[in-house]
Parts: sequence; structure tokens; C-alpha cells
Amino acid sequence: MKYFIGLDIGTSSTKALLISGKEIVASVSKDYPVYYPQPGWSEQNPADWLEASLSALEEVTAGIDKSQVCAISFSGQMHGLVTLDENDEVIRPAILWNDGRSEKQVDYLNNTVGKDFLLDCTGNIAFAGFTAPKVLWMSENEKESFEKIRKIMLPKDYVAYMLSGSFATDVSDAAGTLYFDTGRRSWSKPMLDLLQIDETMLPKVYESDECVGYLKEEIAAKLGFGKVKIIIGAGDNAASAIGTGTVEDGSCNISLGTSGTVFVTCGKYECDRVNAIHTFCSANRKYHYLACILSAASAQKWWIEDILNTQYDFTEVAKYAGKSDIMFLPYLMGERSPVNDSNVRGAFLGLSMNTAKEEMTLAVLEGVAFALRQNIDIIRSLGVDIAKSKVCGGGTKNKLWLRILASVLNIDLEIPVLEHGGALGAAMLAAKSSLDADEYQATEEEFYKIKETLTPDKSLADFYNEKYKKYLGIYPAVRTAMQ
Ligand code: XUL
Repeated sequence: MKYFIGLDIGTSSTKALLISGKEIVASVSKDYPVYYPQPGWSEQNPADWLEASLSALEEVTAGIDKSQVCAISFSGQMHGLVTLDENDEVIRPAILWNDGRSEKQVDYLNNTVGKDFLLDCTGNIAFAGFTAPKVLWMSENEKESFEKIRKIMLPKDYVAYMLSGSFATDVSDAAGTLYFDTGRRSWSKPMLDLLQIDETMLPKVYESDECVGYLKEEIAAKLGFGKVKIIIGAGDNAASAIGTGTVEDGSCNISLGTSGTVFVTCGKYECDRVNAIHTFCSANRKYHYLACILSAASAQKWWIEDILNTQYDFTEVAKYAGKSDIMFLPYLMGERSPVNDSNVRGAFLGLSMNTAKEEMTLAVLEGVAFALRQNIDIIRSLGVDIAKSKVCGGGTKNKLWLRILASVLNIDLEIPVLEHGGALGAAMLAAKSSLDADEYQATEEEFYKIKETLTPDKSLADFYNEKYKKYLGIYPAVRTAMQ
């Protein structure tokens, strides 16, 4: 029996998923904290990812013949800036994908350097979440630390480096740095010059399914493993696309995780020159459009757990569906796609003395659904026909939310049987390295099964179509009030 492991280095936890051929054998999750040292900042300790990965590897393989573990691969939160000094020590906590501190640097990149230059070099414009503005921020604000940098890497690549000694990244994650030429699948020399990054500080770039080395012998011995291949894997959205079967041109996957994303696979390289939709490389040697809203399941968690301090129960909430005028703008962390504004914040609109908290809960779910629709409509305007989508991520546990989403988007939503997203994609990339084509195809057929398809409710879809038009007016109306 051959075993493969997917390690998903997420924002709230690292998940390890063990598969064997067509079977899910075990999964474990290890949590760690996110630090918010100043408003809008978001950091993590790379040592926490490594510790979580090692203990997850140990636990997930308890009870199997460990000598049969063949390969490990990765899915990782994207864009995080990890810096190492000449002794391979971490210089400062990693600055994460949802950190908004680099607004000034984003402004410089988009408006002084210019969006056309950025788009020509990388296929993307600058966002506070991306890595390049963080590099600039560090060079301007932490000069002494900046000068110590000898290696710059992304979160999953740090773990891969510590486990294997191979300084490597993959095309999907590299594309989120803004110093990578997405169309050519290699580092962008003009961007490296602009940012004063020496290419020797950057990892070697591989396709996501490539082997970059082997698990270090001392770690393998400690875990009881034999010789284990390290497959570099992908950024979490590209890995989830492999895990959910979003691999054909035009196929769509929506993730309701901490962030919300819309991922659409494209056979050829195109980029959006008008809005804030990203173009990245995929884990199956193609490209994809990616739209990212910064608050999705995290908006639900904030409202239900932090504000209402209650249990998740949506029975009463459902009664307001199709009846409520309350609106919610889900920009709790500022917003990436499509408005690219790190200063804007969330808002409820239309509250009255009769407003019930359940109605506000419904507005939170609807607001996230509208934010996703706005991005889907923009991707459609780029010439992609999106007739249905897969949905994954923690938010899919809320069936009311899925019903609302299907009606807001007015498309069928397919829920995969397996809900392991990025970790499953990573495990499949690991398996691909060792299985023959027929075996891998059988794995895909098994893992891509659909549990349930949600179809839009006609009258709810009509209601939401009208409400969505009003939603589109909120951001232009409130943004100046929040500057
Ligand atoms: C994508 C993005 C997020 C993170 C979350 O551009 O920033 O989806 O990858 O982990």
C-alpha cells in the first residue's frame, strides 16, 4: 500500500491529509495563532507552521506502515512574506496575505510605477496582500532587518525548505508575489530590479507537481518514514482546484474560507486590465482568474461568535430570506477584489427599530454572496461563461448560505463529497508523482464525486437580482465617508 500526504499550511491551522490510492485514510488539523500587532496588520510565526506540520505528520500516520509513505506535497496560504538571514533564521514574523499595512507602497506601485508596467511584467496590479508591497514596506520601515535578508519565500515554501533543504517554490504561489512573470512562468527581471531583489534570494521555480527533493533523513528517521519525495505543491486556491476537480477550461470553484475566492481555470494566459481580478498560474500547467474577497466565512464567524456570542443556528434566519431589505457590506478587512481598497470597512444599511438580529445575520450571508457575484460578473465580462460552480471551504457547512449563494449567483452549485480542499489537492499532487496515469485517473474519478447540487430558487433569484443592484451602489456611496 502506497501512502501520500497533503499538508495545507492555512491561516488558522495546518491540515494533514493521508491518502492511499482512491481512499482517504486519515486527516488531522493543528491550530496556531494569528497576531494582529496593529490595526490592519496580520502576522504569524513560521516556526508555528513547522511545528504544526511535524506534529500533524506524526499523528496522521499513526497506525499505518510508515515505511510506505511515498510523497508529501503542499497547499499554502498565499502571498505571505517570509524572510531568512544568512543562517537561515527567520528575521521577523511573516506578514500575511490579509495584512493591509502596505497601502502607501501599493499606491506607489499602482500610481507611480503604473498599472500598465505591472500588468506587462506580471499580469497583475498591486494589492496590499501581495508580497512585493510588503518587501517595499520592509525596506522602508525596517531597514536594518531588510539588509539581513538572504532568502525571501512564501509560507508553504518555508515548510518545504525546512523539511527537505530544497529552496523551491511553484508557479501558482510565485504568481501571487507581483515579481513573477505569470505569462512566462518565471521571475520578472524588471520587477526584481524595481524592488532591489537579487534573484539569488529567491527560490527556484517549479511546476506544482514536480519533485524538488526528499524529506531530510533525520526528520524521516524521527517520523519512522523511509525515502519520501517532496512535491512542491501549490498556493491554496490552485491546490483546492486540484482537490475539487476544477481543472477543465472555464470550470469554476468558489471557496468560502476565511477569505472568499472565485477561481476559474483558463487554457491560455489573459489578464484583466480594468478591475482587480488576478491572473495566476494553475497547478495543472494552465492559468486561472482569481478574485479574492477578504472576509467570507470570517465575516460569519465575526458576527455569530464575536458579536452575537451565540451558536450557529440558522432556522430563524431562514424565515427572512427573500423578505429583508437590510444590507451588509462585508469589507471588514478592507477589500481586495474588485475594489482594491484597504481603507474601506464593513457597514450595515437600512436598520430600523424593527430590525431583528436574525435579519442582520441574513444580511451578512447575503453581503458575502453579493460580493462574490460582483466578481463573477466581472470574470464573465472577460469572456468566460460560468454556468455552474463547485463550492468548498468551511462556510459550506451552512446550508442556508449555499441556498442564498445559488440564488444570488443564479447558477447551480456543486458540493463535492470530499471537503478537504487544498489538503486534498496537495495529497493528489503527491500521488500524481508516483501513480501511473490510469491509477491517477481512477483517483480523480473517485475524489471528484459530487454529493449534492443546489439549484437556484426562481423567486429568490429574482428578489436577489433587484437587491444586488442596490448592493452595487453601497461602496461608491460609503467610500468617501471612510477615508
Ligand atoms: C488569494 C488569497 C487568499 C489566501 C488565503 O489571493 O490571498 O485566498 O491564499 O489563504
